[in-house]
Amino acid sequence: MQQSYSKILVTGGAGFIGSHLVDRLLKEGFAVSVIDNLSAGRRGNVAHHHDRKDFHFIEGDIRDTTLVPKIVAGVDAVFHEAALVSVPRSVENPLLTNEVNVSGTLNLLKASVDAHVKRFVYASSSSVYGEAETLPKHEKLALQPISPYAVSKLAAENYVEAFHAVYGLNTCCLRYFNVYGPRQTYGPYSGVITIFVNRLLDNEAPLIYGDGKQTRDFTYVQDVVEANMLALTKQSATGEVFNIATGTQTTINQLATMLQQIMDKTNLKPVYAAPRLGDIKHSYADVTKAKDLLQYNPQMSLKDGLTKLVKWYAASSQAQRTL
Ligand code: UD1
Repeated sequence: MQQSYSKILVTGGAGFIGSHLVDRLLKEGFAVSVIDNLSAGRRGNVAHHHDRKDFHFIEGDIRDTTLVPKIVAGVDAVFHEAALVSVPRSVENPLLTNEVNVSGTLNLLKASVDAHVKRFVYASSSSVYGEAETLPKHEKLALQPISPYAVSKLAAENYVEAFHAVYGLNTCCLRYFNVYGPRQTYGPYSGVITIFVNRLLDNEAPLIYGDGKQTRDFTYVQDVVEANMLALTKQSATGEVFNIATGTQTTINQLATMLQQIMDKTNLKPVYAAPRLGDIKHSYADVTKAKDLLQYNPQMSLKDGLTKLVKWYAASSQAQRTL
């Protein structure tokens, strides 16, 4: 592992993806600071690091223009994972989504330039493609975001690219496709896998919006962590945008069936409701660019990932499941 970076900041580092990244960075020998406002993240996700001298937790908001420059000062690299991540939440509250996802990112970018940060890795989203008809989705497609959430992720991505072009910030954008795994907080704004597992644990049938024929490319969180490590260390990542996914397409109906089989809950028949506003129909990725330039090689099949996740839930307490 290249060691020209030693101090790393992870925004949203107490959250679902961020906390897994923190685990990996500490394991690799980096000193890690986390800023998290605990709106979705939780201290418990990083509690096992609290006694370490190379770990620093700051409860704060990425929109805070006084705090952020202070914590970015002296940092070599930033992983920007903090965001409001839900499409329906953005439909309910587009202004807040914009403030956190766009203004928060801009605040962080400005502080990173001022602090001469050497690498800035941005957690973007496959939602930026919107209803682009070509499948699988590749990085050169025209972008047609259709929800306030998707617009906010794209606007922030554009800011990241502008900061690379104008200020020479050493950036990389990773467009995550439907990340799942342990530690995603369960609530109305969680991802579909977290919601389905929790409903099934409570003996409730999966609730499917629309006909369930919409597709997603579900990506296990450790594959996303690996992509971030590659984005940190590979020079070929500089100024680039990459799809991070598995390159496979699964319908929501198939997902429900797989989970019901794994959890032995096939007696619970899925319930159908109206399609969700802002939902895209199909999403799956061409990951050739990440494979070629980053040597990214996703490891986890959906079946294995779901099985691992279900085992994690079996070993976790009720308190870890909900907000
Ligand atoms: C997800 C992420 C988003 C990310 C994007 C691309 C979350 C909360 N959202 O958005 O941050 O940028 O992938 O990586 O992690 N559905 C049901 N029943 C449910 C819940 C959802 O049928 O109980 C359906 C939805 O209508 C949708 C699909 O499942 O068609 C996926 O929904 P969701 O998990 O919320 O993800 P995205 O909206 O794709």
